[in-house]
Amino acid sequence: MIALAQSTFAIIVVIALFGLFVLMLMGSFMRARRNSAALVTTPQRPGGVPAPPPAAPKARAVLSRRDFFRGGLLTSLMVFAAQFGGASLAFLWPNLKGGFGALITLPDNLDTIKNQIQQQRQPYYFGAGRFYLELYTGDGANTEYAGLISNNLMAIYQKCAHLGCRVPFCEQSQWFECPCHGSKYNKAGEYQLGPAPTGLSHFAVKVDGSTVKVDTSNIVPGPPRGTNTIHQSPEGPFCVGGAAGG
Ligand code: FES
Repeated sequence: MIALAQSTFAIIVVIALFGLFVLMLMGSFMRARRNSAALVTTPQRPGGVPAPPPAAPKARAVLSRRDFFRGGLLTSLMVFAAQFGGASLAFLWPNLKGGFGALITLPDNLDTIKNQIQQQRQPYYFGAGRFYLELYTGDGANTEYAGLISNNLMAIYQKCAHLGCRVPFCEQSQWFECPCHGSKYNKAGEYQLGPAPTGLSHFAVKVDGSTVKVDTSNIVPGPPRGTNTIHQSPEGPFCVGGAAGG
């Protein structure tokens, strides 16, 4: 919802800026046309008698100083609008094409994803959506994770609950281990060690037939410290040492 609101806001700002610049540009053109029309209008004497043709036309400045500054200002604003619009589109592009912040349909089907998790002994990672899919067999499917799990698939946000580093999965320990300050989470993303205040956040998984979708528009905060619904001890040496307790 928050990501959607940001997207909508950025689109509105871009459209408003673009409209403003178009209006300014049109106003400038209309003023320029009015000025040139006034110059070519034949002057008339009182009573409607046409005035004699003017003598030799005076040499006119090609561009006045005011026009020069106005043109410079308009050009600067248009360059700014183009840069801002481009940056906004680049920022929104993943959302516009169904990446992080949207309801994502995975390219692999349910069986493929489950088989990959089991055979490779690590979660299915989907970088464009910034999440892992893991098989969940704990006892929190209808409590801590109600509405988030489907067909035993759980989606875990890759962002560390401490300061936001991307948390990789350690094949040796079978836990998620943050390389930044050593926070560690079990397979379900539940806090185990280190400075993180909570477990990893989650997304809702929706399975429709064999199609798997993950709703990354709503980040569900991780469960508090002490939550342990899968009771998984580390299954080997840690990948990241120096976990600070606390
Ligand atoms: S950011 Fe992960 S432990 Fe600090």
